[in-house]
Amino acid sequence: MTKVRTDSIKSLNKESIEDVKMKWERKDILGIRELSPDEINFILDTADSFVEISTRDIKKVPTLRGKTIINLFIEASTRTRTSFEIAGKRLSADTINITASSSSLVKGETLIDTARNLEAMNPDIVVIRHSAAGAPHMIAKLIKQSIINAGDGAHEHPTQALLDMMTIRLRKGSIAGLKIAIIGDIAHSRVARSNIFGMTKMGADVHVAGPATMLPPFLSRFGVTVHTDMGEAIRDADVIMMLRIQMERESLNIFPSLREYSTYYCLNQDRVGLANPDVLVMHPGPLNRGVEIAPDVADGTNSVILQQVTYGVALRMALLYLLTGGTL
Ligand code: NCD
Repeated sequence: MTKVRTDSIKSLNKESIEDVKMKWERKDILGIRELSPDEINFILDTADSFVEISTRDIKKVPTLRGKTIINLFIEASTRTRTSFEIAGKRLSADTINITASSSSLVKGETLIDTARNLEAMNPDIVVIRHSAAGAPHMIAKLIKQSIINAGDGAHEHPTQALLDMMTIRLRKGSIAGLKIAIIGDIAHSRVARSNIFGMTKMGADVHVAGPATMLPPFLSRFGVTVHTDMGEAIRDADVIMMLRIQMERESLNIFPSLREYSTYYCLNQDRVGLANPDVLVMHPGPLNRGVEIAPDVADGTNSVILQQVTYGVALRMALLYLLTGGTL
């Protein structure tokens, strides 16, 4: 970035926006771990300014006309892939989707060869989701295009954490000083990791809770308070983020049964009552209703789960814009 500003775009008048020309300088968005609080605020400010486009009757601006974005999704996705595709299309970019079953990976081609072939067609951005931690990082070193990590194994999911922080900032004004509880399968969740990095950097008081088998060792080194009692984590919380059990990444026997899990870790109305009355209930999706979250809580007045999805489009529009040279 050429210049740093941490206040919200909404508080600036037009002249001052023109005064403050900032440019994103990283080639890729690979993780929250390496971003500074100023970089995070810069992305969130840019994302705030994109929210309005999706509320228009004609939801399209010419900003990225002539740019090509490839979504390479080698792992299942509903929200993230659709969100990137809609974001690209609303900015008039050409978006191409490749999934595992529709790619030559099923014919034995390596991910590196696939990436080199995509590079040869000269897209501007490649968005990658892969079950192997580090896959987007490896491709980013190899090819000249910008890479966005859309989730790599249990490692990071930076765009989810950014849209989560965007939602909190828009609903609460700021992230600093909030008590944020992240509950569930912390050990296998890339959403938890990215949010722990981001929220602690932004000055939140982050508490995590889950069964001991779902809490990675050395978690407190990341600046969070660790609990096995969910009630302690959510007492007086301003934000509760619930997580799905990552069955596809589990080793065997990390919990006795789903019924037992939900007895201790399902967010029901009684438990919401322990938190602040205006607590935000969040979940990255997909929900397992009745396991980690009660249906009436998921659909209740404190829930911002669908708001997260709405802001996710604006956040991804902002990233596509910044990585193709857009300024704020
Ligand atoms: C998450 C993911 O894929 O990591 N979902 C998402 O991107 N919104 C969370 C999950 O799968 O549980």
